[in-house]
Amino acid sequence: MSTIATETPTTPTGSAAARATDLTKIYGEGETKVVALDHVSVEFRAAEFTAIMGPSGSGKSTLMHCMAGLDSISAGSARIGDTELTGLKDKKLTQLRRDRIGFIFQAFNLLPTLNALENIRLPMDIAGRKPDPEWLDRVIETVGLSGRLKHRPAQLSGGQQQRVAVARALASKPDIIFGDEPTGNLDSRSGAEVLGFLRNSVRELGQTVVMVTHDPVAASYADRVVFLADGRIVDDMADPTAERVLEHMKQYDAKGRTS
Ligand SMILES: Nc1ncnc2c1ncn2[C@@H]1O[C@H](COP(=O)(O)OP(=O)(O)O)[C@@H](O)[C@H]1O
Ligand SMILES: [Mg+2]
Repeated sequence: MSTIATETPTTPTGSAAARATDLTKIYGEGETKVVALDHVSVEFRAAEFTAIMGPSGSGKSTLMHCMAGLDSISAGSARIGDTELTGLKDKKLTQLRRDRIGFIFQAFNLLPTLNALENIRLPMDIAGRKPDPEWLDRVIETVGLSGRLKHRPAQLSGGQQQRVAVARALASKPDIIFGDEPTGNLDSRSGAEVLGFLRNSVRELGQTVVMVTHDPVAASYADRVVFLADGRIVDDMADPTAERVLEHMKQYDAKGRTS
C-alpha cells in the first residue's frame, strides 16, 4: 500500500464532514402528505465510510439528496462541514455542490462520447478548474484505470464504468462523497471492485463516503451502518460484518410482521 503523498481532501479525521440535525422532509400536503424524514439527527465523520440501510421507502434516498443539497428540507438543518445548506442562494449552493460534494448515481451517468479520462475531468473542465495533476494520477491509480483512460464507456465493463464515476467524484477532492446504491447495477464481482475502491479511498486518501445500500455484503465494507425505518434512524452499528447486518435486518422484518 502506498503512503499519502499529497494533501488529503477532508476536514480533520474525527470531525463532522456532514451533519443533519432534526432534519425533516415532507413531500406533498393534505391527503398526499408524506413525512419522508422525521427529525433525523446524524453526523458523518471525516475519513469514515458509512452505509445507510433500511426498507424501501424508509427515506434513504431523501436523506442523501437533502444532505447533498439536491433537494430542499422542510425543517431542521443540514450542514456540510460548517456550512448550513438552508438559505444558501442558488449560486452558492451550486458552487458548494461542485466544489465540496461528490455524488455517485446508480446509473453511472457517464457521457458516451467522452473517454474515461475526459469523463473524470469533465466537472472540473466545466467549472474552469485545473485538476491537481498529482492527485488526479493518484485517484486514477487507486481506481486501477491507468490502462483504460482512452476507452469510452461502451468499451468498459459495468464495474469499470462505475470506477470512472467514482474517480470523477474524487477528482475535485470533495469533502464528502454520497452514493445512492452505487453498486446496485453491478454484478457481484464488479460490485466488490467498486466497494473495495471506495474503502481504499477512505483508508488511503482520507475521503469521506456515505453510501446507501440494501446489500449486507456491500454494507460490510463500511466502518459503520446507520439503519433507517419510516424516516427515522433506528440503529447505528460500528464495524459491521455481513452476518451481523443480516441478523439485524431479520429482526426488523420480524418486528414488521408482528406489528
Ligand atoms: N418527490 C417525491 N414526492 C412525493 N413523495 C416522495 C418523493 N420522493 C420520495 N417520496 C416518498 O418519501 C418516502 C421516502 O422515499 P425514499 O427516500 O425514496 O426512500 P428509499 O430511498 O429509502 O427507498 C417514500 O414514502 C416515498 O414515496
Ligand atoms: Mg432510494
